[in-house]
Amino acid sequence: MKIVCVLGSPRPRGNSTTIARLFCETAEKNGAQVRVFTLSKLEYRGCQACMTCKTKLDRCALKDDMAEVLEAVREADILVLATPVYYGDISSQMKGFIDRTYSYLSSDFHDNPNRSRLKPGKRLVFIQTQGNPDEKSFADIFPRYDYFFKWHGFTDNILIRGCGLMEPGDVDRRIEILGEAENAADILTMNA
Ligand SMILES: Cc1cc2nc3c(=O)[nH]c(=O)nc-3n(C[C@H](O)[C@H](O)[C@H](O)COP(=O)(O)O)c2cc1C
Repeated sequence: MKIVCVLGSPRPRGNSTTIARLFCETAEKNGAQVRVFTLSKLEYRGCQACMTCKTKLDRCALKDDMAEVLEAVREADILVLATPVYYGDISSQMKGFIDRTYSYLSSDFHDNPNRSRLKPGKRLVFIQTQGNPDEKSFADIFPRYDYFFKWHGFTDNILIRGCGLMEPGDVDRRIEILGEAENAADILTMNA
């Protein structure tokens, strides 16, 4: 089983990163192969809307560090996306990645029920951390992105949230969130 983990926080020891790394370490213990990409260390642009992926190529035309991430996701069984909440949404680093997944959509995706060039049956694990302790705040984020990842054949997607986490290291004291990450990894990768 192959896992690609995309880290959207610029903090090396940020809360979303800690949760994602625990998920990945647990999955590796179960035999999964894990590749981790830290977006803030990569040089890449957002989607340029050139539409080359709809007219001339079956993939993104931009030749930057994101090309390797996009190729790795094609091969993955599980995609882990870890992001802090910035101004009520995902980080700009993560948005830049997600916009580039537009290149997975087929040329006729508006009319074709099989919209995506990705093999169906992948699973998304979405990790979201926020300073605000109120779970009702920013509960709209995951459903919005889950909707589009379903276009790409991702099913039974999982959300792990950490609310009331402001400083790096805050999640270390929240064993219920860390336990949730370990349990999710065990459930998804047992006998990987
Ligand atoms: C630019 C910026 C914007 C933020 N906006 C929000 C916000 O809208 N709501 C919120 O609850 N926390 C907000 N935060 C706090 C972060 O979500 C919080 O510190 C989170 O734990 C960061 O995750 P990380 O440790 O994985 O980087 C913001 C932080 C920054 C730096």
